[in-house]
Amino acid sequence: MQKKDFISITDAGRGLNSLITGALRLKKELNEGSGHVRSRPLKGKNIGLIFEKSSTRTRVSFEVGINQLGGNSMYLNSRDLQMGRGETIADTARVLSRYLDCLVYRAFDNRAVKELASNASIPVINALDDLEHPCQILADLMTIREKFGRLKGIRMAYVGDGNNVCHSLMLGAAMAGMNFTAATPPGYAPSENIGQMAASISLDSGCTIQSIDDPELAVRKADVIYTDVWVSMGQESEREEKERAFSRYQVNTHLLSLAAKRAIVMHCLPAHRGLEITGDVLDGPQSVVFDQAENRLHAQKALLLRLLKK
Ligand code: CP
Ligand code: NVA
Repeated sequence: MQKKDFISITDAGRGLNSLITGALRLKKELNEGSGHVRSRPLKGKNIGLIFEKSSTRTRVSFEVGINQLGGNSMYLNSRDLQMGRGETIADTARVLSRYLDCLVYRAFDNRAVKELASNASIPVINALDDLEHPCQILADLMTIREKFGRLKGIRMAYVGDGNNVCHSLMLGAAMAGMNFTAATPPGYAPSENIGQMAASISLDSGCTIQSIDDPELAVRKADVIYTDVWVSMGQESEREEKERAFSRYQVNTHLLSLAAKRAIVMHCLPAHRGLEITGDVLDGPQSVVFDQAENRLHAQKALLLRLLKK
């Protein structure tokens, strides 16, 4: 049987909704102390986590989730591996496939994640790269379903940088039939290729996917306002230039007042209060950012079960 990877949110395919249903069930089981909490379905499985960049949520939620499912996690800082001294990604993939059952990889470059996956005989999960952040979006869609009871027809506005999180959201929204508008400054729009992929998926699911530069227009009547950092990991040298270009793209009370009355505010975190979002909005009653962070745990557990259980 061919092994399954999760490099892009599109890899969830038609199973996206059932993955979210599974995540909601795992959350309930954990709260009730039932199901997987007792059966430990990943007993005997070893999962390696290779990180080239910092992480709080992704690393800890994977490690805790694997542990709760009865498996064993191994954090591998890329600098401590021979990979950090020039061993090829392909050889690393071949060797680690002989020991482990799954690899979770946070990389600077999407090509590195694809190279690891194509040379590994075990499932590879993308834990963020420069192009996508699919695990985040799985938890985000779970959170939206939890709050609104559905995904289809929900209007989401993404305000900020057309980055990895924006790309996976755009694709995930298209798959789920959500109407998605990204508002980004000129020069920072999402990738055209991703936009085209999302547009073609949306033809099937019957929703609209747009990329514009006016944040006020994007958030009008939105059910969800989402933002992310202006300066992603690896872009630190662009800080000044980006902060200048993005000043109109802050999620604040004015922007929130244009959205639907019961709109929720989302952020993948870490957040910078006073830059991409004001403290009163991030910490305010419409913000669901900590539920969103918690749901990383449940969504990734559902994903691991999908990829690893026979
Ligand atoms: N949202 C997210 O992926 O956070 P970390 O960088 O802390 O893992
Ligand atoms: N876009 C951000 C997301 C962090 C979770 C980054 O890549 O740094």
